[in-house]
Amino acid sequence: AQRIQSTVMGSQLKILGTTVSTQEEAKALAEEGAPEGTLVIAEEQTGGKGRMGRKWFSPYGKGIWMSLVLRPEQPLHYTPQLTLLTGVAVCRAVRKVTGVMAGLKWPNDLLVDGRKICGILLESAAEDEHVRYCIAGIGISANLDPGDYPEELTGIGTSLKIEAGEPIDRMSLIATVMEEFEMLYELYRKDGFQPVASLWEALSVTLGKRVSIQTARGPIEGMADGLDASGALRVRTDSGEQIPVFSGDVELRR
Ligand code: BTN
Repeated sequence: AQRIQSTVMGSQLKILGTTVSTQEEAKALAEEGAPEGTLVIAEEQTGGKGRMGRKWFSPYGKGIWMSLVLRPEQPLHYTPQLTLLTGVAVCRAVRKVTGVMAGLKWPNDLLVDGRKICGILLESAAEDEHVRYCIAGIGISANLDPGDYPEELTGIGTSLKIEAGEPIDRMSLIATVMEEFEMLYELYRKDGFQPVASLWEALSVTLGKRVSIQTARGPIEGMADGLDASGALRVRTDSGEQIPVFSGDVELRR
């Protein structure tokens, strides 16, 4: 195991055995005034949450299920940028610690050869459109074996252990995610979203691909061209129209 070298991120730790969801634990701590950088980690979640009301499979001891408390001083509509920042931090850490060349799928999935290895869920509490706190939830399928996956995830999910061919030291990966996060968060605070967006674009498996996106306003199909200043995905449709997509489920097309 390795020490966490970052000074703020992960400086307060709460490590749990079984819990419903680290998101809920982190929210409760944030409501009690927990400082930025407070990190909640669990061995197992019985009610792990994914995006769009989905469940997140979180078996005991097999993954990294954690939630980080953030207190950015910014308007609520900037928070999608933090989802992308979190993705960059995890992607860089995964590559560094395990050598697995994972890539980012907009807005927040980490994929290896099209299979999901990590999901990110950012939730915020706001007052008058200003952020009170954000919870960055990170779920990394670290040491799952092929037989661990329920039927509905077979072929969709993979793990770092499966991809690297050896078990992952979870503590080193957690420490490196915190260090990368801290470095990027400082960059973001100092220079804004643009440098983070460039790093995201360089790690992306979405850009330059044909995508089909289910949005609340219906499906959009076209080429994924890049990120705009807010973090929205710029999609160029066949009629040449540029559409910023703020949320939705992306399907990569051949
Ligand atoms: C997704 O891809 O839909 C996001 C998945 C986020 C899962 C993580 S695991 C730690 C934290 N606690 C939760 O209940 N969810 C997030």
